[in-house]
Amino acid sequence: MKKVTINDLMLWKQEGRKFASSTAYDASFAQLFEQQEMPVLLVGDSLGMVLQGLSDTLPVTIDDMVYHTRCVRAGNSKSLLMADMPFMSYATPEQACDNAAKLMRAGANMVKIEGGDWLVDTVKMLTERAVPVCAHLGLTPQSVNIFGGFKVQGREQDKADRMVRDAIALQEAGAQVILLECVPAELAARITEVLYVPVIGIGAGNATDGQILVMHDMFGISANYMPKFSKNFLAETGDMRKAVSLYIDQVQSGEFPDAAHTIA
Ligand code: KIV
Repeated sequence: MKKVTINDLMLWKQEGRKFASSTAYDASFAQLFEQQEMPVLLVGDSLGMVLQGLSDTLPVTIDDMVYHTRCVRAGNSKSLLMADMPFMSYATPEQACDNAAKLMRAGANMVKIEGGDWLVDTVKMLTERAVPVCAHLGLTPQSVNIFGGFKVQGREQDKADRMVRDAIALQEAGAQVILLECVPAELAARITEVLYVPVIGIGAGNATDGQILVMHDMFGISANYMPKFSKNFLAETGDMRKAVSLYIDQVQSGEFPDAAHTIA
């Protein structure tokens, strides 16, 4: 695989070519993903749940994220690497800059932040200072206490309309990727259609430009909980490399996510 950049993702969107992505947290899996030609990886703050065994992502620190970003980059030089900014590490634009610099120095190509149009100034500040941004909308897990649980977002018309406006505002502020989590497929399709930047979905149907899975869900080994929209690709293949390859193929062909793995 040649080194993947944001320009590739933009081109794939224009060509209607779907792409897969996965979370990764260590060098061994990062290398396996590179060997299987996974174009995009995310060092997700989901590591709080799948590595640290916590019930949500809030306790994850910037030092945790820097450590795992460094590990993943050490095993993989080709995938476009996004790294999550953890809870309260981007509460102000200045704080976001300081913490994003740590992730970029650890090897990230892009940082991901959770939230709507209140992040416009932060996105502008980061992108003007050469930090590419992915903006995460929908079920943003750092807001679990505001949402009252891990719940589908954007079912009501006013909330759906607001998410569309947020996505446009974040794109106009400079966000180069939008990630949608747990939103009805129809809303994800609407946002994907209206934006010129690539949209990556998780539990958001198959109209988005890309898909992402938490790697532990892809292998069916998550400790406590397997979201309904996820699929255990290891069960079908019995081999981790084949499981990753099957996931990539099924995303590219549009076979995954199918109706059984989609939120209506
Ligand atoms: O932290 C994470 O793994 C994520 C994915 C669920 C997209 O944000």
